[in-house]
Amino acid sequence: MKRVGILTSGGDCGGLNAALRSIFYRAKSKYNMDVFGIKDGTLGLIRRPIDFVELNYEIFSGSLFRQGGTFLGTTNKGDPFNFPLEDGKLSDQSDTIIEGYHLLKLDGLIVIGGDGSLKILKKIADKGKLNIVAIPKTIDNDVGSTETSIGFSTAVSIATQALDNLQPTAASHHRIMILEVMGRDAGHIALNAGIAGGADVILIPELSYSIDGIIKKIDQMRKHNIKYSLIVVAESVKTENGKVHMVKFSDGQERLGGIGNYISQEIMNKTKLECRVTTLGHVQRGAMPTPNDRILASAFGVAAVDLLAKKKFNRMVAWKNRTVVDVPIEDGIDNYKVVDQNESLVDTALALGIYIGNI
Ligand code: F6P
Repeated sequence: MKRVGILTSGGDCGGLNAALRSIFYRAKSKYNMDVFGIKDGTLGLIRRPIDFVELNYEIFSGSLFRQGGTFLGTTNKGDPFNFPLEDGKLSDQSDTIIEGYHLLKLDGLIVIGGDGSLKILKKIADKGKLNIVAIPKTIDNDVGSTETSIGFSTAVSIATQALDNLQPTAASHHRIMILEVMGRDAGHIALNAGIAGGADVILIPELSYSIDGIIKKIDQMRKHNIKYSLIVVAESVKTENGKVHMVKFSDGQERLGGIGNYISQEIMNKTKLECRVTTLGHVQRGAMPTPNDRILASAFGVAAVDLLAKKKFNRMVAWKNRTVVDVPIEDGIDNYKVVDQNESLVDTALALGIYIGNI
């Protein structure tokens, strides 16, 4: 194992630069490997010449690991098996990626991605018999078989700060403040930030709710002379009649968004209360990583290099019981992790009197 590649794929998040640093340090100092950072996810292996940078100590000498994003760049568009060409046609670029791996003379590749990226990269690795090891990252925390992924802690921290900042203005104006957070099809960010940030209502896609249930909670608070409320809603929560709120962009793509406005309008239609909506968006992704994410990323990076050195390929590093373990990559992909109604944080929320839906 002499020449090792790294790429970050899918949406960026806090902690990726810390993971890249850790991979480089371990690979260089323990195994004297040459480490090549591939630009913009798999795109770097599709481009000719191959788009990469050889990593060195100087790159990581400053504040890079403290910063959000990924200095290698990434992409969450364009499945390489159905890759959009300039003329609009779709073409299978998986062989180009496999060829790129060989042109760089890589002995192994560490891929840092969420469930979607890992699925694609595993398929490419199987096809080309490439030696890969995976590191889970996603603010959504929906990768299976790991308690947490790089980026989740940072997203929760930013959403918690948002609730902290909304509380004083909500209280001052006696308003209902609604915070819409990311998380794709999982409610982990909303649930965790809602508890940490003192939300009165937490709406997640895994649990059904009613507008009347929300209003009942607000009314109970008013009876205790608390004249404002904080609501956190995950972006993929559906309307009461089961519609997912999407926004159509001018590129023709539909993206999750708008459920906060729906909740606000419904409450205002049924009550005389004043609501305001904050949609947090990508600040959850680009923020400076929390200490927890930097630590997790550092631990994952070291463990991923060790797996490559031991030729334990097709494994994903995972966090379990305060330590790094490794599992088959398929376990991370196949066990898509959503909030389980029986998990203890749901109980915690209920015990705190939070309305979390009809359970
Ligand atoms: O999967 C990460 C995520 O941030 C989701 O929470 C969100 O729905 C989506 O990516 C946003 O994607 P984009 O960066 O393409 O807008």
